Amino acid sequence: MLPVDPENISTNPSSNEHFQDVVDRVVMNRRHVIKSGLGLSAAMFMGGALGGCAEETNTTNNTTTNTNNTTNNTVINNGGSGSAPDATISFEPIAISTDDDIKVPAGYAAAVLAPWGTPLIAGAPAWKNDLTEDSAAQEKQVGEHHDGMHYFEIPGIDGNSEGLLVVNHEYCDYPDFFAGFRAAGSAAFFADPTKWTADKAKKAQYAHGASVIHIKRDGSGKWDIVAGSTYNRRIHAATPMELTGPVVGHALVKTSADPDGKNVLGTFNNCGNGHTPWGTYLTCEENFNGYFGTLNSGTDNRNDNHKRYGIGNARSGYRWEDFEDRFDFNKEPNEPNRHGWIVEIDPLNPASKPQKRTALGRIKHENVAIAHAKNGRIVAYMGDDQAGDYVYKFISSGTFDKANPKATAHRKLLETGKLYVAKFNDGRFSGDFAGDGEWILLDVGTATTDGSTLGAKFNNSLAEILVNTRLAADAVGATKMDRPEWVTVHPVTQQAYLTLTNNSGRALADINDANPRAANRYGQIIRWSEKDSDPGSVENFKWDLFVLAGNPNVHGDLRAGSDNITTNNTFNSPDGLAFDADGRLWIQTDGAYTNAGDYLGQGNNQMLVADVHTKEIKRFLTGPKECEITGLAWTPDGKTLFINVQHPGESTGPAGSSWPSTTAGDFPRSATVVITKNDGGKIGL
Ligand code: FEO
Ligand code: CA
Ligand code: CA
Repeated sequence: MLPVDPENISTNPSSNEHFQDVVDRVVMNRRHVIKSGLGLSAAMFMGGALGGCAEETNTTNNTTTNTNNTTNNTVINNGGSGSAPDATISFEPIAISTDDDIKVPAGYAAAVLAPWGTPLIAGAPAWKNDLTEDSAAQEKQVGEHHDGMHYFEIPGIDGNSEGLLVVNHEYCDYPDFFAGFRAAGSAAFFADPTKWTADKAKKAQYAHGASVIHIKRDGSGKWDIVAGSTYNRRIHAATPMELTGPVVGHALVKTSADPDGKNVLGTFNNCGNGHTPWGTYLTCEENFNGYFGTLNSGTDNRNDNHKRYGIGNARSGYRWEDFEDRFDFNKEPNEPNRHGWIVEIDPLNPASKPQKRTALGRIKHENVAIAHAKNGRIVAYMGDDQAGDYVYKFISSGTFDKANPKATAHRKLLETGKLYVAKFNDGRFSGDFAGDGEWILLDVGTATTDGSTLGAKFNNSLAEILVNTRLAADAVGATKMDRPEWVTVHPVTQQAYLTLTNNSGRALADINDANPRAANRYGQIIRWSEKDSDPGSVENFKWDLFVLAGNPNVHGDLRAGSDNITTNNTFNSPDGLAFDADGRLWIQTDGAYTNAGDYLGQGNNQMLVADVHTKEIKRFLTGPKECEITGLAWTPDGKTLFINVQHPGESTGPAGSSWPSTTAGDFPRSATVVITKNDGGKIGL
């Protein structure tokens, strides 16, 4: 409901080179070549450029995107077989949609599962369409604004028909969450103590976090919740959890309520996710800053850390500080330092305490992709979703035992390791949308661009570097990116793919004839291969752009996108991203849905599938009005795909969307969507 997406506003004041600068330089150089009359058409330019990148990547980095050649690669996720999976995409792509429903290709079915408010814990009441429920009801019901998600098998049970779906609940939109909010308007609602109460703030807290949902197929094949199952669990913004790793006990995470700096209440703004090979779920805390405000903004007491992470000297949008001191940074300046982490959850143990993994850094975490280094260490790739922020990689100190994947010792792997930030360089050529990159270690001995060291700037403390991850990355010259979103690793080649969703805010200052992509409304997907295809390598990596999203319906220049964008598959703002076990790349969008102007012919947000070998992209699904599509999870056989619809009707509420209800005027709700193939086959094949 915000007029401006705060993630489009950079809070990065450093002078580090922006990724768009690299791209713009490339574009400028190539366009100079085109204008010089060397006979390159725009299509040849884009096609040749992107194709050439892949070739450069393959030949110099000994990486192959041919799944028939696995000689130099470690297979981590192809169903347990070392043979090449079949990543064929054979469905008939669908058209755009502006309707208030889900559309999938012929031969597929989509069903709604677990919308916000669905009874989950024993004793939960049914959801009420008048939004009058209290916090006690919400604490037992499925949370709101479903996002990242993973499906877990239960030992001893056929995972293709029964399992645990763990779903993030990123946030809630008060106008469609509290009775009377939309009618009153925010100022009047918050000003009325009969309307804005401590219980309402609690209800909002309980709608955040994650749900563990036990699901099962019935005799007809339909998936449903096992209501009241002892596996069912709500983890939310007031759930007790622990800090782990280098930051535990540091002065920067001590508060009045927790003088030991170890025990935190809650997780919120849980955006994307990851999962570990030892069977745990990773939920990623993204825009945590939006939950901190102050009742006393007369003097600006924010420190550099507060500012770099975007905490405003004002009341927060959620207004939890009205009832709890921990959300007022003037009263508890260290409480924000206890958020912005990745949290590890054991879905099979409902009594387990979630663990915040501080070794992986404190950023606005989008998601996390786990890969295996050749030497057995665990690698975690992560993006920091804000205009002008960075890409990170963690490498564990300990090693993973593939012969005993569920070993208890693996639960400690994300507690200790090294954190790196990425620098993307042009490489040998400008103009080819490819280059090389470096991983810069964030530790006390690392030199900073001003001739000092991180140790000198952060009291020789790794804990301080981690609490101030963004500031440390600024100091070592990381590359500013166009809002890093989801990252995923190809199951065979180990090549990493990352969505850079858009950066329209920066574009306004950079619009000129030579830089048509500076107005980056559409986003792109970048990919990189590590040296020797080893995710554990910290030597130079090779990168190229897999796709520049764009709109050939309205633009004939670079805003039309790369040559794998057509009028039939055009989209903007790639966000959710994941490979299935066979190596199909699933792309989800969270962008503009006006279907007008720059977005004409793009319709509602959608999900597409890419063949990374041919670069072909096909549209698979379109969502209801004013939603984003996010979250990807599969059953082990690949025959059920779960995705999430978040914030249908986010702008206009019931007037714009009543999804998933088909009754006009009902309040819209986020929900999971279950996709199956009518012939019982694999999704996408
Ligand atoms: Fe929560 Fe960056 O999406
Ligand atoms: Ca280059
Ligand atoms: Ca997202």
